[in-house]
Amino acid sequence: MAGFQEPPVKKAKIGNNVNLNANSSHIPVQPGPSHSTNGHVKARQDNSHYGTLKHINGGRGPMQKTFRDTDNLRSLLTQRHALPIFPVRNELLQELKKHQTLIILGETGSGKTTQIPQYIHEERLDRKGGVCITQPRRVAAISIAKRVAEEMNTNLGGLVGYSVRFEEAVSPATKLKYVTDGMLLREAISDPTLSRYSWVVLDEAHERTINTDVLFGILKDAQKTRKSTPGQDPLRLIIMSATMDVDHFSSYFANCPVRYVEGRQYPIEMFYAKKQEDDYVMTAMTTVFQIHQKAPQQHDILVFLTGQEEIDSAVANIRQIAKDDSLAECPRLKVLPLYAALPAHQQLDVFRPTAPGERKVIISTNIAETSITIPGIRYVVDSGRAKVRTYHPGSGFDALRVKKISQAQAWQRMGRAGREAPGNCYRGYTRQEFDAMDVNPTPEILRSNLASVILQLLAMGVKNVLTFDFIDKPSAAHIEAAMAQLTSLGAVAVQAESLVLTEAGGKMAQFPLEPRYAKAILSGPEYGCTDEVLSIISALSSESIFNNPSGRKDAAVNARRKFTSVEGDHITLLKVIRAFKAAKKNKMWCHENFLNFRNLTYALEVRKQLVQVCQRCGVTITSCQQNTDSVRRCLATGLYTNVAELQLDGKYLTLDTKQEAVLHPSSALWGGKPAYVLFTELVHTGKTYMHLNSIVDPQWLYEIAPDYFRKKHIKT
Ligand code: CDP
Ligand code: MG
Repeated sequence: MAGFQEPPVKKAKIGNNVNLNANSSHIPVQPGPSHSTNGHVKARQDNSHYGTLKHINGGRGPMQKTFRDTDNLRSLLTQRHALPIFPVRNELLQELKKHQTLIILGETGSGKTTQIPQYIHEERLDRKGGVCITQPRRVAAISIAKRVAEEMNTNLGGLVGYSVRFEEAVSPATKLKYVTDGMLLREAISDPTLSRYSWVVLDEAHERTINTDVLFGILKDAQKTRKSTPGQDPLRLIIMSATMDVDHFSSYFANCPVRYVEGRQYPIEMFYAKKQEDDYVMTAMTTVFQIHQKAPQQHDILVFLTGQEEIDSAVANIRQIAKDDSLAECPRLKVLPLYAALPAHQQLDVFRPTAPGERKVIISTNIAETSITIPGIRYVVDSGRAKVRTYHPGSGFDALRVKKISQAQAWQRMGRAGREAPGNCYRGYTRQEFDAMDVNPTPEILRSNLASVILQLLAMGVKNVLTFDFIDKPSAAHIEAAMAQLTSLGAVAVQAESLVLTEAGGKMAQFPLEPRYAKAILSGPEYGCTDEVLSIISALSSESIFNNPSGRKDAAVNARRKFTSVEGDHITLLKVIRAFKAAKKNKMWCHENFLNFRNLTYALEVRKQLVQVCQRCGVTITSCQQNTDSVRRCLATGLYTNVAELQLDGKYLTLDTKQEAVLHPSSALWGGKPAYVLFTELVHTGKTYMHLNSIVDPQWLYEIAPDYFRKKHIKT
């Protein structure tokens, strides 16, 4: 049919030859497959609208929009009409009316996420129930909702809203609601058929987050139930993906149709590293300066690294090197970080246009791979790495680890260089390394702790988790390990030979937290410290409440010394929260003490919401005042699998998986050598670091989980 195609066969495009690399360490090669076709909707050469777009994104935030600003509205409308998806609007609507489930495949930036819900609304297909669009990341859900509200000239929280954990802007009038996949899963606990929506859009399905994967099963089931219940409005499903690998989705939904919307993709010249480099950060930074020196234009550079700390330090290093006299002739460098934990106003910086004579370098996590579109990028530097959550079979915990990305991710990253004009992609790895990468990323469900998800499935009334219709089923051992964790937390129990949710488990499922944190809160009354535990868990749920401006680390450490507790980081967090309240949540006070006002305010907001859940569940909130031992004991009732023991050689071994680990240098315990440490998480960057740690007494551990610790043979 006109305007649509079946997914095209991957085919290579010939790159144009802007050869910058006369002396570079990279060799040019033929570019890999682009997702373009010779289809009906051609890639547009006219990209003049992007100039305006930059202005709007950078010039003022959507929140400050004035309704009288007709120029802005006109410009937004022009931009909407110039999107690759616009010419196929009507065909798309016909397809959506015809099929109950439709898969839409389209390149990043073609307009899927922002436009399709608006088309549905314009056609009044949301009369009976609204449209709910899921996103794997909260940042994307919020920023897209803002953008759509602006395009529709309405206030955020009115017709267009969002809902992410601990934060929402919705009202009864909301018809288009952008949510994180985790939030929709939570909604399904109280409303398993998602009766308030006529449409659910599972966006960024290619990312295969654990929540999206579970939603596949929940939605398939909800669709069936609603179909077989007379008088029920049918549930329409749209699955959206930026990568080609959609056959799997289609066969899961009874071979539902797949439609392809072509985006813009200009040719990209690709360069691989000539030899294998171990230090991928250094390789990426060197490449940035090679581009910077050799490419005369000021086009912007997007660098993919892995995590916050690494990115912050790369940003600081590049800024430093950029001051070198040898670069005096080059455009001025504006270096910006981009990661999910970055405060919203700093995230908006990446959209701001550069001043004349300036070049933007954005150092990002995989957030810029598909969910956020940054205009102006012509160069991509890909480290080939990402930080991913990995699961330790046989134990109850996850860890963040830097891993090689998949080929599909590498193609996505490359694609970011060619959305507006021909571009260049520098891969910091060899062609052979690329060939050895997995073709697609492993779905998160196969590599993370399932305890949270299983608890939610049970709370939704799914009787047998082992037979749940997962799109990719985790192994029975994997599910059983999560069940074992839930059993030891007291969330499930055996009843008539099957596992059922206990009363405590039902309460844990009400908290928007991992079950082990919910468990610690539920233990609060027993130790008389619910008040303190709520403060600590709220601080852990927020981004870092500390400010560590580069170059002023010592000043920050000195200013915060008064909060540091010899008991560890959890009590340190508690002291900060208490002091923040005592200082009447004063911004200046935060500044003086190198504390992050915004994140502290957010933590208190989270706390308020957790207090409400406590009230609903009948959890009494009492304070232990200065008896902070009981706080650490209480935390250990949830986190007891996260314990490490000091060895004779001065290193730590985790009790659960016998991994070697060290205290993170930012920890309050760093420099000391407590015999037992309760850590919040493990992060692998070169070494395995324990983050956010407290001293624990082994005697407590025996009291909390005698069976578990007897097996671990700890010395008391
Ligand atoms: O979902 P898909 O990647 O196909 O595209 P989209 O997110 O709907 O974005 C379409 C266009 O809207 C992007 O190319 C951006 O130019 C613009 N956009 C924006 O300026 N600000 C946002 N927060 C989201 C989108
Ligand atoms: Mg999108």
